Amino acid sequence: MPSLPSPAGPGSSSSPASPAQTPEPRALVRPAVAADLPTVAAILEPYVTGTAVTFDEQAPDLPTWRQRLVDLDARGLPFLVAEVEGAVVGYAYAAPWRAKAAYRYTVEDTIYLAPAAQGRGVGSLLLASLLEACTRAGVRQVVAVVADDPAAAGSLPLHRRFGFETAGVLRDVGVKHGRAVSTTLLQRTLA
Ligand SMILES: CC(C)(COP(=O)(O)OP(=O)(O)OC[C@H]1O[C@@H](n2cnc3c(N)ncnc32)[C@H](O)[C@@H]1OP(=O)(O)O)[C@@H](O)C(=O)NCCC(=O)NCCS
Repeated sequence: MPSLPSPAGPGSSSSPASPAQTPEPRALVRPAVAADLPTVAAILEPYVTGTAVTFDEQAPDLPTWRQRLVDLDARGLPFLVAEVEGAVVGYAYAAPWRAKAAYRYTVEDTIYLAPAAQGRGVGSLLLASLLEACTRAGVRQVVAVVADDPAAAGSLPLHRRFGFETAGVLRDVGVKHGRAVSTTLLQRTLA
């Protein structure tokens, strides 16, 4: 088992497929199953209603989450959850970046933790595991879209820690809670 992952630069992301763990707290990352989805939905919901971290304005319902899990599984793309002391505290998945065929080797990552689980390395463990799974799936490029919102303050340092580089800023592309919101695009090339 790997311990808390160290920063990974491009081309350094090969490692075992077994569940990964942090040393402290004991967090474990594993593939999501349908029974995790009510917790996954509950983790995202306050970010939808209270922040502009996500541009969703309505929290996805359970059928939507179930379909997402089925769709990603069918494409061989990862949907992972992190557990601390047996409870799911976060999730991450990689979804197609765009639908057109030539984008087939490019994904967008998504990662959310319950607030109480933040700042303790769990996000790093999840992202490391996600990048490893993406590499195994044959993904070549991973894009992160980070909204300019205080609740997303951890996202830029997290992604940079794993070798993501800023590709650009899209100004005011979202409007949420009456405020125009910009996004930063980051990109990581996999080996
Ligand atoms: C972004 C998120 C997944 C990071 O997970 P985490 O477990 O908190 O991050 P880690 O503890 O592994 O820390 C990773 C890096 O981010 C930094 N970081 C974490 N939270 C931070 C915060 N609130 N402000 C500034 N930096 C922060 C850490 O210091 C660390 O940086 P380092 O490598 O330079 O030491 C988590 O904070 C989260 O769920 N945030 C809200 C949802 C969100 O923004 N999702 C991303 C959408 S693109």
